[in-house]
Amino acid sequence: MQISCLLCVYAIWLKVSPAVSESWNAEVPLTVNGLAGSCVVIPCLFKYPGAERKTSHFKGIWYMNSYETVFHTETSKISSTFQQRTSLLGDLGHRNCSLKINPLRSSDSGPFTFRIEIEDFDKFTFGHNKVSVSIKDSPDQPTLSISEEMSSGKKVTITCLVFHSCPSDPPKITWSHKGLTSSQSLKQTNGEWKIISSLSFTPSKSDHQKHLTCTAEFLGGKKSSSMETLKVKYAPENVAVVSDYSVVEGSDLNMTCTSESNPASHTYHWFTEGGTLLSEKHTFTLKNVSRHIGSIYCRAINTEGQADSRPIQLNVLFPPEFKVGSSCTVDITGVTCLCIVDSHPASEIKLWGADPSSELRRTHEEKHGSLTIVTLQGALGISDIVHCGATNSQGNYTLTLQVPYSLIHNIKVYISIAVVALIVIIIGLSVWITKQCRRNAPEVTPQPKMEVNATSLSEPQRKFKDVSPSCYGSQHVYGNMVSEGPYEEEYPYEYDNDYEATYANV
Ligand SMILES: *[C@@H]1O[C@H](CO)[C@@H](O)[C@H](O)[C@H]1NC(C)=O
Ligand SMILES: *[C@@H]1O[C@H](CO)[C@@H](O)[C@H](O)[C@H]1NC(C)=O
Ligand SMILES: *[C@@H]1O[C@H](CO)[C@@H](O)[C@H](O)[C@H]1NC(C)=O
Ligand SMILES: *[C@@H]1O[C@H](CO)[C@@H](O)[C@H](O)[C@H]1NC(C)=O
Repeated sequence: MQISCLLCVYAIWLKVSPAVSESWNAEVPLTVNGLAGSCVVIPCLFKYPGAERKTSHFKGIWYMNSYETVFHTETSKISSTFQQRTSLLGDLGHRNCSLKINPLRSSDSGPFTFRIEIEDFDKFTFGHNKVSVSIKDSPDQPTLSISEEMSSGKKVTITCLVFHSCPSDPPKITWSHKGLTSSQSLKQTNGEWKIISSLSFTPSKSDHQKHLTCTAEFLGGKKSSSMETLKVKYAPENVAVVSDYSVVEGSDLNMTCTSESNPASHTYHWFTEGGTLLSEKHTFTLKNVSRHIGSIYCRAINTEGQADSRPIQLNVLFPPEFKVGSSCTVDITGVTCLCIVDSHPASEIKLWGADPSSELRRTHEEKHGSLTIVTLQGALGISDIVHCGATNSQGNYTLTLQVPYSLIHNIKVYISIAVVALIVIIIGLSVWITKQCRRNAPEVTPQPKMEVNATSLSEPQRKFKDVSPSCYGSQHVYGNMVSEGPYEEEYPYEYDNDYEATYANV
């Protein structure tokens, strides 16, 4: 009971004055890294014996080399080389004796010692806990790490590590690429801090091979940076066929499929317009090129995806060929000849008759794709044969067309029949008119009588005399028609036996 009560009392005493420490002690690192021109914080925590005291009861002093006053609570006591450059960061009442030197000079290497003076109690110099500052003129490079593999469109996070010794004014970290940034500060040993800055962004194809930089700017303006080249994987783009576009029919053509991608495309496919797979090679040889090949495209494939080129239309060259439908026809209006030439490039077409030196003039020329259609229209009899000569860069070819004679002949016959029929009708008509005239003639007084009694002519007799010249007149007209033969002039064809036979029948 007694023992337990004693323990109770001790516990209560502990609770009342929990901050009692047994001895003088300072916790400081042995060395702190510092950057000349920037700031450094020497972390410091001290212990003193006895009960906790008020802040106002403390005087903190830092010495360098045991004699130079680096800091004093009474600032006037600070040595001239450290005036305005030093301060205590923490609260001495909370045993925090951290010293900040800003800006740090190359000569501020220490060793530094802390001394505490507590009013109405005691003073102590922590001579066993010396701190040195290792001073660098330029900051270390940040550590930039791209751990993830980058793919276009896939979000990544990149980190940049920066070490420093000035937690009150840490360096500012900036990135060369836009994105979401965040940072974390971690306390290390020996008064050093680590800042982890993270950049999150979604890379695109355009980021491939770009430089990414992380820059730390320290208090006082010194900077250091690290750079990495981004490697962004992306599916093929700008796929294109590289080839000669003009090719002679029947020859071979080498075609290469190019693309932009990372990594490089590992497979290529070649297709016709209709989707037939032609090849799986990067460079494909199209053999025996045909004019009917149509368009061709290629597909590039890598680990990230695939893409197609635009279809290319080959310019297949071939010499002229005459197509079905090239012929001459004849009708009543004349001769029509048609030359239909298939060639690429388009042919130059010449027309001539029996005499190659005199070219026949075409009536019309038109083009439909690779076809050139030349029309010649002429009078009957322009020529018995028509030659069509077609020439392009690939060769030349001449076609001889026959003007169909029999048809021309038949037309002659029809025209002849028509002429003969007309003559017969005219003759018949004339005969009839003549007969009509003769029937009226008996009423005319014989000529001798008329001479005897010329004055006894009656009125009706006079009238007849006036009419009769018209009968003779018509005979005269008929005579002229026969003798002048106007039909023979218009159709100067020789009448052959067939014609005579027909005439005889008529
Ligand atoms: C001392 O005080 C400063 C400022 O309040 C603080 O940042 C630091 O962490 C303290 N140091 C220790 C050792 O407690
Ligand atoms: C096409 O490629 C083959 C081999 O790849 C080569 O032997 C040939 O000479 C090439 N032909 C042309 C027209 O470039
Ligand atoms: C080329 O193709 C044509 C038909 O398009 C064929 O008649 C000819 O035999 C082919 N030539 C070769 C060498 O394969
Ligand atoms: C037509 O081709 C032959 C050889 O195929 C050539 O000798 C001739 O000169 C050519 N004629 C024309 C008009 O190009």
